[in-house]
Amino acid sequence: MATVAAPIDATSTAAWKALEAHQEKLEAEGIDLKAWFAADADRVNKLSFDAGDLHFDLSKNLVTDETVKLLCDLAREVKLEERRDAMFSGEHINTTEDRAVLHTALRRPASEKGQLIVDGQDVVADVHEVLDRMYAFAERVRSGEWKGVTGKKIEHLVSIGIGGSDLGPVMAYEALRPYADAGIDCRYISNIDPNDQAEKLKGLDPETTLVIIVSKTFTTLETLTNAREVKTWMLEQLKAQGAIDGSDEQNAEAVAKHFVAVSTALEKVEAFGIDPANAFGFWNWVGGRYSVDSAVGLSLIVVLGPERFQQFLEGFHAIDEYFCNTPLENNAVALMGLLNVWYVNFFGSKSHAVLPYCQYLHRFPAYLQQLTMESNGKHVRWDGSAVTSDTGEIFWGEPGTNGQHAFYQLLHQGTVVVPADFIAFANTANPATDSGQDVHELFLGNFLAQTKALAFGKTADEVRAEGTPEQIVPARCFEGNRPTTSIFGDTLTPFALGELIALYEHITFVEGTVWGIDSYDQWGVELGKQLAKQITPAFHDDAAKAEQDASTQALIEFYRAHR
Ligand code: F6P
Repeated sequence: MATVAAPIDATSTAAWKALEAHQEKLEAEGIDLKAWFAADADRVNKLSFDAGDLHFDLSKNLVTDETVKLLCDLAREVKLEERRDAMFSGEHINTTEDRAVLHTALRRPASEKGQLIVDGQDVVADVHEVLDRMYAFAERVRSGEWKGVTGKKIEHLVSIGIGGSDLGPVMAYEALRPYADAGIDCRYISNIDPNDQAEKLKGLDPETTLVIIVSKTFTTLETLTNAREVKTWMLEQLKAQGAIDGSDEQNAEAVAKHFVAVSTALEKVEAFGIDPANAFGFWNWVGGRYSVDSAVGLSLIVVLGPERFQQFLEGFHAIDEYFCNTPLENNAVALMGLLNVWYVNFFGSKSHAVLPYCQYLHRFPAYLQQLTMESNGKHVRWDGSAVTSDTGEIFWGEPGTNGQHAFYQLLHQGTVVVPADFIAFANTANPATDSGQDVHELFLGNFLAQTKALAFGKTADEVRAEGTPEQIVPARCFEGNRPTTSIFGDTLTPFALGELIALYEHITFVEGTVWGIDSYDQWGVELGKQLAKQITPAFHDDAAKAEQDASTQALIEFYRAHR
């Protein structure tokens, strides 16, 4: 393991103890957002921040001036700023893998070449060398200069990857659909369940399809299985259509024209049969779930164009700069991470909702699940010692208003505190009116109404005043004091999406730092992978089956009886 100072136990800091006492005092006095707003005319102003082109309203959180001060004290006691600087400068803060954590270098401008030398490498120069190659490649595909084996322009991409090699690109592709202007669409295959591939390939013309295989390690079972199958599909289809004769030479030419790859393991890409000229690399200091702004975003560059991808990177960088250069007390990014600690460790929150009021962000919560939960779902700290507090809340969510008609009931009247982030934009790509009513305003009215209802609730007297029969008054009351953060932007642009992703990357980092955990490894996914390798032969092999536990054996018997 790399030598990084042992984590400071947050629970033994003075700030943690002060926060415990403070929380007890708030509970005893009564947490009352309505009263806190009434008592402090400056509350919204004090808890509102602008970062990049996003506006943050933290005022509907369960905090007072004292809470914010104590949370910042805690951040300083655990040396958050020092660890942030260590991360940005390329120290090996990923101790269990002995790696630097430098996703922030992926969005540093070319003008910063030569300013970040890590492990002997000019990291920014390396990043821009690959970016330039990807931009040139994407322009060739978009313009039609890059042709399939029969000379046709590429109209469809198929991107094969899983986890960090899939969730980011899919999410961003969906989010930025209004900016896809080259007449090229993309389908993403991730699951080893053959149904995924079968559905995604339906109706595709291989002559106009380009496949991008994305895998950091180029060893992932799902991705390599899908990649081999899609290669077979491509070659068989082209042969059936008379486009190639099936000879080794023509097969190789077809693969060269229809397959490219993204990986840190370029030698494995070549062994798969992909021309190194058509491979785009990245580095082991980019974690999978932090990689959408690396070559892993190649499908986005082709679909959106280099200029928009550049704006996407600039959005990330704007938040990186803000996070690094804004004092903690005014730093919306750091404060959102600290608020999450406040709710998890001092209110016992087990989950955190992210509720985009923007249909284009419908995959954003799924993306955040990997980012946050693979990062902070840990039971040991970065020196191998046990954690000293709860870690890793469950992130989840769906776009509003759909969620309102599904699970918001629990948010409003359930017995657990679920902090929620609401994300909305003032402008929409698809303005609409209904009977003279601006439909986007109808939508945004719901965004504001929900955060208001959650914060301020509805008293029994207010319910009675509506003439509600007494026996159902309790059921119609809302306690309020349900914490929310509102993130409001102008328009969901590539820049704004980059900002949002960087925001949650840093929120994850802040939480992980307080908990003392290495947010950049993911050993918890390994055991299942190993066991799957051992178990799969047991479907047919009695000796392998006999080695399994009783429950697994019984399930295998069910399988055998039904196949
Ligand atoms: O199994 C988890 C994981 O390692 C993720 O962290 C990663 O994003 C995903 O698998 C895919 O890995 P790769 O890009 O190496 O195929």
